[in-house]
Amino acid sequence: MSTTEAGSAPDLAEHVMPDAHINTSQLRFDHWARIREASNRLRVEPEMQEQVRAEIEHHLAVLAPYEGSFAFPGADTIVTVQRRLAGRDFDLLAEEMDRLEIILSQLGDGGALLDDAFDLSLDADDLIAEGKRRHYFTVLVADSLSHRQLRDIRRDMHEARTREDEFVFELLQVPSVEDALAAVTANPQIQAVWIRGDLPLRSQRPLALFRNRADLMLKIEHDIGVHQHGPMLARAIRDLRPELDLYLTLDAEGHLAEAGDQSVFNRIFYRREHSSEMHMATMDGVRRRYRTPFFDALKKYAQRPIGNFHALPIARGNSVFNSEWIQDMADFYGEQIFLAETSSTVGGLDSLLSPTGTIREAQEAAARAFGAKETYFATNGTSTSNKIVVQALCKPGDVVLIDRDCHKSHHYGLVLSDAYPVYLDAYPLPEYGFYGGVPLRTIKEQLLAFKRAGRLDEVRMLLLTNCTFDGIVYHPMRVMQEVLAIKPDMVFLWDEAWFAFAQLHPTLRRRNAMWAAANLRELMDSHYYRRQYAEWRKWFDTLDPEDDATWLDNPLLPDPGAAAVRVYATQSTHKSLSALRQGSMIHHWDEHFASDVSESFHEAYFTHTTTSPNYQILASLDLARRQVELEGYGRMSGAIQMALVVRQQVTEDPLLNRYFRVLDPNDMIPPQYRETDLTYSDKAGLDGPIDVMNAFYTDELVLDPTRLTLYVAETGVSGDQFKVDALMDRFGIQVNKTATNSVLLMTNIGTTWSAIDNLLSALREIARGLDERKLESSAAELELYETQVEKLRNEVPPLPDFSEFHTVFRPHPETPEGDIRKAFFLSYPSQNHDYVHLSDALALMDSGRVLVSSKFVIPYPPGFPVLVPGQVISREIVEFLLELDIEEIHGYRPELGLAIFTESALASAV
Ligand SMILES: Cc1ncc(COP(=O)(O)O)c(C=O)c1O
Repeated sequence: MSTTEAGSAPDLAEHVMPDAHINTSQLRFDHWARIREASNRLRVEPEMQEQVRAEIEHHLAVLAPYEGSFAFPGADTIVTVQRRLAGRDFDLLAEEMDRLEIILSQLGDGGALLDDAFDLSLDADDLIAEGKRRHYFTVLVADSLSHRQLRDIRRDMHEARTREDEFVFELLQVPSVEDALAAVTANPQIQAVWIRGDLPLRSQRPLALFRNRADLMLKIEHDIGVHQHGPMLARAIRDLRPELDLYLTLDAEGHLAEAGDQSVFNRIFYRREHSSEMHMATMDGVRRRYRTPFFDALKKYAQRPIGNFHALPIARGNSVFNSEWIQDMADFYGEQIFLAETSSTVGGLDSLLSPTGTIREAQEAAARAFGAKETYFATNGTSTSNKIVVQALCKPGDVVLIDRDCHKSHHYGLVLSDAYPVYLDAYPLPEYGFYGGVPLRTIKEQLLAFKRAGRLDEVRMLLLTNCTFDGIVYHPMRVMQEVLAIKPDMVFLWDEAWFAFAQLHPTLRRRNAMWAAANLRELMDSHYYRRQYAEWRKWFDTLDPEDDATWLDNPLLPDPGAAAVRVYATQSTHKSLSALRQGSMIHHWDEHFASDVSESFHEAYFTHTTTSPNYQILASLDLARRQVELEGYGRMSGAIQMALVVRQQVTEDPLLNRYFRVLDPNDMIPPQYRETDLTYSDKAGLDGPIDVMNAFYTDELVLDPTRLTLYVAETGVSGDQFKVDALMDRFGIQVNKTATNSVLLMTNIGTTWSAIDNLLSALREIARGLDERKLESSAAELELYETQVEKLRNEVPPLPDFSEFHTVFRPHPETPEGDIRKAFFLSYPSQNHDYVHLSDALALMDSGRVLVSSKFVIPYPPGFPVLVPGQVISREIVEFLLELDIEEIHGYRPELGLAIFTESALASAV
């Protein structure tokens, strides 16, 4: 699957990219396993010696470029194997490789801890037990220490260890900037990097990709007159893996000035310093990320003997453990959950509504991990987080540009705050029956409408879903730049309910809101940008500002002197990270938060936050953050890799591709929103990391590679049926969402390779079943099957655009915003609304009646309102609802029909 079959040693650059789309652990494991297997053959088949030796040499050549990035088995083991081959020590080699495989499978890189891993007189289980006693990590030493120097430091580090240490690390040296970039990319076990200031740039290994990056660094160094590569490497690592601790190592104090900007480092070490300092600082750095203030406090609380004299009989399990009838609750959930169940805000715990202790610390740690200025926890899902942000930022009469197919919590948030939505239509994907994203041009057009009307000051917020359910990802940096060029004080809310994991991976990260906000500020503060802006402005002022094309057809740059960065993101931590259900976070990067929002934010937070927050959810948010900072990168690289493997297999396997297709960027993003021609579904998706990176740099919209929309029309059953009958009932596979002719699958940081194998086997079995059924079918049955396929391919209900608000709900006729709150409450008196059956609606319209919805109507799928209160019901919407073959439509009772305003209610609202 992930192994290179034959040929010369691969260029690391082609296979391991800053985005690690290749699962290097898997690849290395495969090759070491093959070496072990070949070594055992070598022992028993002397006549095959030459051939088997060549095989082993081949695997070693494949491994060589990777092993330089790992402490275990590492480059030294490759040399050992070569030595055994040369010395014809085949028995010893086989035994060592058996041992290696056991250790590698159990400890991974942590095998480096075992000085005597290959001492065959020691029991392997004992060694592994020792290795598992503590958390292991690798410290990358980007330096050119001699063998002896490194050995001495290693010895010092071992001496500095104590048995109480909860972590233990080993050193891995790489001699150049390029090698260091390769290592932090390939090896997720690296948690800290010691960087020598004057580290050489070039690797002795062929690393084309990293060479590009290094060349870019060199150019920047030249531009800003810095001569040491170490600090530049540190910056590049911050970009790749911001969670890592970085230490600058210098020979003497005098060298400090030469090292240039050191702000990127956690600390500076001088060589003559005692090594225990380096040990302590390195351990402290990891401890800081490992610490989970709230979870730790809750654990402590649970261990204390506490008498319970307040409400909450369940606390300490008192009403459960002694119960005659609900003891199975304790059997099922275990004891700890009850011991940790409390409403206490003291004793190390804290108050969510007014945090000053461990919850506050946990939120600060989350802000660090997710790149926010501040983070707030929510225990009622992003549904609540969205309402909090909308209410905090918007007051009655504020205009909000909002994508129409966003989550319903936003619409309700607008009702609550009496802000006026301008609904933005995403482009439709008619063949598949769902939407893509809102084009930047559409957003600019709406802003220009308000500019022309002289009412740009009323527009408060742009609200977009990043990424959409189906995986369409915006370019928040670009969108915000262009919007701020028209309206410099715009506030942005990015609903990242489905995108918290973007922070874990360098490619995806540049598409998340917090990254974009921080980088936008850094960019606008740079001399480089100010020069660029001045030149652009000179050119732009030569164009006609009254002509819309001037604004719509050209990329716009914000004025760095005027634009403010005011960005909010809401994330369902529970949807893609290890938080319990409902765990959600609100992040902000709003430079005017303290002066402009703090008070209203807290009011909104109090409005929506329970006074009895669930501590288990809060603790899980804390833990999810720890995981992000310590293993998020490796896990996310794995999730991407697995998704790409599914895509590749479905594309290439003739059995699978007869019935299935995983939709690609080409299918889901029209060419006008892409500059690249990225595909994930063939080998290029795996070997073309530069394409992936380029697309994420340049394209207006990209597709999240972990989102797998499986097109099932060729099976002859609908997405919904396929989900239930084929996947769930037969194979116990749960999918995320369905549409007319597709089901949506996702990989995540918990997906395992065996789950991927299961999925692919299930799809193969379904495909084989279809093959057989076709063979056994009569001509009539075949025709029926073909008709069904044809229907699923071509008869997807056409997606209706947002129509318009009825004039009585339009505060200004020249712009499209609507007073949704007015309509919402107008529907409360029952005499104000009527019902019309869908089958009668078109005739009523033909007779001249304007039908205006008095309710939200939300079909699942697609899961967003096709009608909101006050919206004129268009023919397209009725036709769409008539064609929808689903039962779950919130706000619509089939026996009554659509709820519409009576004509007198509308007249009264004028
Ligand atoms: C885009 C979007 N935002 C917000 C939410 C609500 O999130 P939660 O389930 O955490 O309340 C959802 C739920 O599916 C969603 O899809």
